[in-house]
Amino acid sequence: MNQDQLKASVAQAALQHILPQLNSDTILGIGTGSTANFFIDFLAEHKGAFDGCVASSEASAERLRAHGIPVYDLNESGTLEFYIDGADESNERLELIKGGGAALTREKIVAAASKTFICIADESKLVNVLGEFPLPIEVIPMARSYVARELVAMGADPVYREGVVTDNGNIILDLYNFQIATPRAIETAINQIVGVVTNGLFANRPADILMLATQDGVVTKT
Ligand code: A5P
Repeated sequence: MNQDQLKASVAQAALQHILPQLNSDTILGIGTGSTANFFIDFLAEHKGAFDGCVASSEASAERLRAHGIPVYDLNESGTLEFYIDGADESNERLELIKGGGAALTREKIVAAASKTFICIADESKLVNVLGEFPLPIEVIPMARSYVARELVAMGADPVYREGVVTDNGNIILDLYNFQIATPRAIETAINQIVGVVTNGLFANRPADILMLATQDGVVTKT
């Protein structure tokens, strides 16, 4: 299987996992990215089985609406049953790096508001130590240089993601050369820098279930 086929297989497996638990009142949290897109497309075949979704990005909201799936504002929907999303990296503790698609802040909010976070990815995303994938940080535009200097002082190498504006109107700094041995502490420390909206570490709220597509089938870790 190529990478797209792996992503499709794990998206289908996640759908089969949640389908028996859906009812007409269920509202799902939906992530962003190519793996989440496969999930949205498969979910569309079961429109009658749930109420609707809250999306973690404008792009996913548009894709859901194009399938005729109702999209709700999180402020109207309360707690969500499941959050289904991809990741850029995961370790064995299901701590993640996310935000390759610049949607990290809304992803973190929707994940926080969900009872169960199911992360879906192909096996290439599983690592021993997080940080080979550059850690995305969403920053208020006027704080860009200040935050970058603070991150350099922490030993990281921040790079401005040129031309990218988040759905919240902010910019992204990607942290290179930054091995993340203590994800929870680093997530908290970076979020303390004034001007940081949030960072792409999902360690204080890791995934609850990680479904990984391999050539031999989907492996589930909890
Ligand atoms: C979006 O901001 C990211 O957090 C994505 O969830 C992550 O980049 C995974 O994307 P793919 O499913 O496209 O690999």
